[in-house]
Amino acid sequence: RQRPAVPSLVVTPAVAAHRGASGHRPEHTLESFRTAIAMGADEIELDLVSTKDGVLVVRHESDLRKSTDIAERPEFEGRWRVEQLTLAEVRTLRARERKPELRPGSAAYDGRFGVPTFAEVLDLVAANPAERSIGVLVEIKDPQRSARRGLPLDQLLLAELAAHGVDHPRSRVSVMSFDPVFLRGLSARVEVPLIQLIDKDDPFDLATADGLVEVQRYAAGLGVHHKLLADADLVRRAHERWLTVHTWTLRAENTYLPKRFRRRAHPARNPLGHGDLHAYAEHLVALGVDGLITDQPDLVLPAVRAA
Ligand code: G3P
Ligand code: CA
Repeated sequence: RQRPAVPSLVVTPAVAAHRGASGHRPEHTLESFRTAIAMGADEIELDLVSTKDGVLVVRHESDLRKSTDIAERPEFEGRWRVEQLTLAEVRTLRARERKPELRPGSAAYDGRFGVPTFAEVLDLVAANPAERSIGVLVEIKDPQRSARRGLPLDQLLLAELAAHGVDHPRSRVSVMSFDPVFLRGLSARVEVPLIQLIDKDDPFDLATADGLVEVQRYAAGLGVHHKLLADADLVRRAHERWLTVHTWTLRAENTYLPKRFRRRAHPARNPLGHGDLHAYAEHLVALGVDGLITDQPDLVLPAVRAA
């Protein structure tokens, strides 16, 4: 089957480390990205927010209370959003595990790493510690909200990609968003592939036949919630439109897995209640996905490579 020159997935299916190896290190830290690359991940996934002084930093949401020590820092009382802080202030924060009860191994690293800028992560990838090409999936969350606050994430993103020489289709950088209006607007201004994210309730009806025709006009691929992949139908229809399909977010903990892949928790044998992520990854690979976005790349990679 002939495929167009869309996201340059050197290995398919690609295994993408969600917020880095966030099942093992506090998310979105340089250490979580380094760990993912060392584990063999093909791609890293990250989210961007902007500081008050217009610097892109790598966080899932602008409220920093869940992923850093900011709530315990009296000098920041009431100023918990990244757009209220300068980069110099953000640099004083220490990252911490979002779900310490589920992930005590990662929580053991609390306080050891800072919040990286997007530029620092691009530098890490360019330094290529694994001596192989690492893809970068950059998610822009809620761009309209940032624009209303005078922080145009698209402009900041384009400037950073250009500054790092990764603003061309062969750079292995892709830009993802849930917002179809944002991606459509961006498509005329960037050469890197765009990935349309689709949440489990498909709020914009993008997984429909008409939706895919529209997405094909501006994007190279889909990033779909794994619950939309009950069978191979959506993957097949996306491929017919030359759209790649990444799926997210694969996590080992029972609570995130479909029922049939869960395992009974046991105080000695399975104290954290992990399910069979390996089998679930195999199942998704068999559906034909092009990429699996996971917090635990070490558990997904063997399933993908064996396929
Ligand atoms: O890769 C897409 C996925 O990251 C979207 O969900 O909330 O983890 O950013 P979220
Ligand atoms: Ca994301």
